[in-house]
Amino acid sequence: MYKTLKEVTQTATKLNMTVGAFNTHNLEMLPEMIRAAKEMGAPIIIQTSIDTAKYIGYKVMVAVIKEIANDEMVDVCLHLDHARDFDEIKAAIDAGYSSVMYDGSHLPFKENIVKTKAVVEYAHAHGASVEGELGTIGGTEEGISVAENDKIYTKPEDAVEFVAQTGVDALAIAIGTNHGQFKSKTEVNIPLLKEIHAVVNIPLVIHGGTGVKEEDYPELINNGIRKFNVGTELLVNWTKIAKASFAETEVNKSLRHNVIPANMEVKEIVKHKITLFMNVDNPLEMKK
Ligand code: 13P
Repeated sequence: MYKTLKEVTQTATKLNMTVGAFNTHNLEMLPEMIRAAKEMGAPIIIQTSIDTAKYIGYKVMVAVIKEIANDEMVDVCLHLDHARDFDEIKAAIDAGYSSVMYDGSHLPFKENIVKTKAVVEYAHAHGASVEGELGTIGGTEEGISVAENDKIYTKPEDAVEFVAQTGVDALAIAIGTNHGQFKSKTEVNIPLLKEIHAVVNIPLVIHGGTGVKEEDYPELINNGIRKFNVGTELLVNWTKIAKASFAETEVNKSLRHNVIPANMEVKEIVKHKITLFMNVDNPLEMKK
């Protein structure tokens, strides 16, 4: 079924698990990502950057996701990742995206509140959810680049104020993760997460999931992370397999021979992540 971010994170909260939010870059890898969730019996969030949404087409993206979600009987949320432009956010919501992120993390605090609140009002009036961001997450991704020394960790007291003033459905926090970190792993600031979780009672979001150590997942989930973004790990592996396949496949062979192995690799990674995201060794009552 087609779901909002609010709906899938509510389920995650009840079950003390997190929902994987996986970035897709094309339509090729998409069906296997959703089938991975189906096989694991878990909801999934598919997210796109604005550039990917424009490349595929907002309406096409919505139609494809709805069709697969219904066909496969999986709960899927379609989320616009890191948007800073009201017109693009409106285009996504009007086309039927069930969730958007307004990333005002680069703005002064008050301006971030005012602009995020405006997005929340529009999104909620149209049945979509909103993720806000406070503090800055390091690294580089499509259109968003933060230098290492410009990183600002999320302050718990700001998070309380931001959530109360904006009405966001989920909050992305900066606790030491970096976008696009695929050659090394990061030190996540768990004590800071605990402080934020103690005072903020909406789902928290981790960005830069590729660079997070898998052994840290339970602590993150047990302390309120209900949306867990993973992008680069899928992208890098899809590209590696596709490059090798393209290199060895005759030019007159169907493109299937090149892309199916890459799609299947992505499926296996998504399944592996979801296994960990379901947090099966930890009790239900750690929820919040
Ligand atoms: P990675 O690409 O580092 O996994 O991060 C994904 C993400 O946070 C998208 O916003």
